[in-house]
Amino acid sequence: MSLVRKELLSLKPYIPGKPVEEVERELGIRDIIKLASNENPLGPSPRAVQALRDYLLKINLYPDGNCFSLKKALAKRLIKQSRTKVLPLLKQSRTKVLPLLKQSRTKVLPLLKQSRTKVLPLLKQSRTEVLPLQVREENLVIGSGSDELIHLIVLAFLNKGEEVITGSPSFSIYETNTNLMGGRLKKIPLNNFTFDLPRMKKAVTTKTKIIFIANPNNPTGTIVNKFEVEKFLRGLPKRIIVVFDEAYLEYVEDKDFPQSLSYLKTNKNIIILRTFSKAYGLAGLRIGYGIGDKDLITCLNRVREPFNVNSAAQRAALAALDDHEHLRRSRKVNQEGKKFLYQNLKALNLFYLPTEANFIFLDTRMDSKILFKKMLKKGIIIRSGDIFGFPTFIRVTIGTRKENERFISALRETIGNSHKINPKSKYYQIPNKSQIQILPNPKQIQILPNPKQIPNPNTTKSQTNPKSKCQRKTNT
Ligand SMILES: Cc1ncc(COP(=O)(O)O)c(C=O)c1O
Repeated sequence: MSLVRKELLSLKPYIPGKPVEEVERELGIRDIIKLASNENPLGPSPRAVQALRDYLLKINLYPDGNCFSLKKALAKRLIKQSRTKVLPLLKQSRTKVLPLLKQSRTKVLPLLKQSRTKVLPLLKQSRTEVLPLQVREENLVIGSGSDELIHLIVLAFLNKGEEVITGSPSFSIYETNTNLMGGRLKKIPLNNFTFDLPRMKKAVTTKTKIIFIANPNNPTGTIVNKFEVEKFLRGLPKRIIVVFDEAYLEYVEDKDFPQSLSYLKTNKNIIILRTFSKAYGLAGLRIGYGIGDKDLITCLNRVREPFNVNSAAQRAALAALDDHEHLRRSRKVNQEGKKFLYQNLKALNLFYLPTEANFIFLDTRMDSKILFKKMLKKGIIIRSGDIFGFPTFIRVTIGTRKENERFISALRETIGNSHKINPKSKYYQIPNKSQIQILPNPKQIQILPNPKQIPNPNTTKSQTNPKSKCQRKTNT
């Protein structure tokens, strides 16, 4: 009889990128650049580094188990953020409402009645969606990276046999933790490389407990926008916990990205996860945070270790939060790097996904495991796409200008002779988003020649065929 819990037998360990020093030693090369784990290429926030130096002589003390100062600073920041995001909306709603009220006063009663029916819903909407959120310390939980928070959510809420829904491919930690608890993960294939919220909603059953939405998604860098999210939340059973994993939030440029904080006012079962690992450059310290209703957060605090976040991480995060210059530079370098990589990937006639994060998912049209090894010999570590079910894709972190240049020239050299590029082939054109279609089997990608020819997902044969692989996977 095995000593180990049954649930552990199906767990696949997370395969991290190799440490740079180890690869340098193995290959006998120097100056390796790591573009495999979506870290900040500028390094940590200098303010965080200074805070750490100042704190070194106090590491004999246990950390503050409640992360008091960090929570206080975060609460203040989140209220401020939600105010600057919602005030224009409030203004807008007032300019819509006031003329109606005025009109109703000057004209007679029938109009008043009419205006009420027009005005009240607007006022109601403005109250629920527009008023700034009151984030207090009790709405926050700090974790050893958002990885730990994902673990805590599953540990606190998922009973054996209950279901978790997420997209595929997405962040692997959702799967590991669901399996660990004996839960059942429903992986809904992405549509156009994007979380397919309508299909995820359809997959809900009475056993569904948690839904994880990585926004932006890893490895694709795509987002679900506010219209899609709001439609998804409408009518979703309130007993389901919806987790918005916003690890790459700071890099998002799309104006239609959901203001997830505003959903907390009307939906008590939403948890938002954010991290200091990416734009703030503190991945090595392991610190992230969750925002949610007091009752849910209390449960997470119950299952966490008393000192789950070390004091160095707390100090550094607090300092990084105020390092606006580092954050600004990190975003700028990412935006510029994105443009540079897009241009060069286009020139190489390679298909890539426009990204809202700090990495790009692209099709090299060769075996990505082979490509990985060849790039490694040239001193560049990337992520091969086979682990995500895309054997010819790679995921590459957007680096500094110098790193991006090295990546492109190594890629050009590597793919140059290994296969023939036919720029006229419809499959190898750089498509725009609406021209991409992903078939139920994630390994089959079809790039449609013309957006008008995209089949309606509701009538596509492959999706309605009960025998299709995809259908079986998501059948409840
Ligand atoms: C979507 C997503 N969520 C969470 C994480 C984990 O971040 P952390 O370092 O805060 O644990 C990552 C890390 O790559 C990620 O890609």
